[in-house]
Amino acid sequence: MINTIKQKFESKNAIIGIIGLGYVGLPFATTYTQKGFRVIGYDVSKEKVDLVNKGENYIGDVDDDVLKKAVNDGLFSATTNESELKNTDVIFICVPTPITKNRVPDTRFMESASKTALKAMSSGKIIVLRSTTYPGTTEELVLPILESTGYKLDKDFFLAFSPERIDPGNTTWTSDTTPIVVGGVSKKSGEMAEIVLKQALPNVYKVSNAKVAEMEKLLENIFRSVNIALINEMAQMCDRMGDIDIWEVVDAAASKPFGFMPFKPGPGIGGHCILVDPYYLSWRAKGFDFHSQFIELAAKTNEDMPHYVRDLILRALSENGKAVKESKIIFLGVAFKKGVDDIRNSPAIRVMELLSEIGDPNIEFADPYVNEIRFNGTKLVAQNIDSTTISNYDCVVITTDHDEFDRDMIAKNATVIVDTRNTLRNYKTIGNYYILGGGK
Ligand SMILES: NC(=O)c1ccc[n+]([C@@H]2O[C@H](COP(=O)([O-])OP(=O)(O)OC[C@H]3O[C@@H](n4cnc5c(N)ncnc54)[C@H](O)[C@@H]3O)[C@@H](O)[C@H]2O)c1
Repeated sequence: MINTIKQKFESKNAIIGIIGLGYVGLPFATTYTQKGFRVIGYDVSKEKVDLVNKGENYIGDVDDDVLKKAVNDGLFSATTNESELKNTDVIFICVPTPITKNRVPDTRFMESASKTALKAMSSGKIIVLRSTTYPGTTEELVLPILESTGYKLDKDFFLAFSPERIDPGNTTWTSDTTPIVVGGVSKKSGEMAEIVLKQALPNVYKVSNAKVAEMEKLLENIFRSVNIALINEMAQMCDRMGDIDIWEVVDAAASKPFGFMPFKPGPGIGGHCILVDPYYLSWRAKGFDFHSQFIELAAKTNEDMPHYVRDLILRALSENGKAVKESKIIFLGVAFKKGVDDIRNSPAIRVMELLSEIGDPNIEFADPYVNEIRFNGTKLVAQNIDSTTISNYDCVVITTDHDEFDRDMIAKNATVIVDTRNTLRNYKTIGNYYILGGGK
């Protein structure tokens, strides 16, 4: 059976199934269509399915023309009908892995996607979980679902974990070019998943089992979380000490050609990964009587940053004779990072909430990637900013360093600026300029 499956993939006759067509699933689908594979995407969102079938792109990291061509050439279609996945040879599960309000993993999406994969089971099917999760998920959560009606691992199907590394907005390292890690729940499963991945990706790194693959993904994200937290703490320290600018400190340290990797401070961590994923591991570790102090400390430090930025805004307003209550404040950027439209766990929105709890100021936002947000139960629509409108705000808070923001215009016209991203460092501002970690 293994050789037949291998041949089917190598001759590109295999059909790829993807459950979840979001930031991870959609780019991954086009990775395979570009190699000539037929891909069937399944999503519970009819809206996304309809867009895909019209060839309309909704993810920044996907090339509009690539998607359109894949759909027009009959290589890519999407469906809300689970049974269409029956014809696939491999199913990649790319569904959300959020945490609850109490910071506990919410595995419901992976469970329901596994049930969908079970309904689409066929002899020799390869199932690969791609959602970021705690070590043990593939074996202890997905496998029992797949075996619940009598199918057997290695006899009827194969199961592996292969984490996604996509960095939204990064055009150098994309879903197509970034090396990918894979580990099987069994030896055969690892080998089968490796064959499948090698058809589309140049660099596949196989590890000895699924748990190693699950853990390495968390290491990648926790590595970032801990290092960002360190710089965020040092940023606050620089402010306290005065006359030391964290941005200059980091640039200077980065001049060392070995043994140092620069991380930047910011208003907090957003998105679906760095803020959320570490909790999957700390939760899991507790089940082994192990309390991960690095993870918790980093999370606390990073989650404190919006509070620190709120205080910086309050200081900026106060030093300029404004009370927060009557102030008109605009946030430039609500996406969690530059160049993307993703507002999940947006630090900017968190700062807005914290400010509104204090004095209920008039809060607005501008973001070239985001048209509207829900804020305090109402819809807030993005503002257009220009040299006249920007001067009307009591405080301009730069929360995302989108390239599209006209830095010169902002510097020349805003009267009070709080810059959490070091975007106006090289501009002469007319107004009072407060920079996060700037030692002022
Ligand atoms: N976004 C990133 O940058 C990134 C990077 C690396 C890893 N990841 C991980 O990848 C996973 C997916 O993240 P994402 O950003 O693509 O999420 P997303 O919310 O953008 O997309 C998930 C998709 O799954 C669909 N979905 C939910 N439940 C489903 C079900 N039962 N059946 C079918 N479809 C279902 C949703 O409608 C949505 O379209 C998460 O575990 C995340 O941590 C994300």
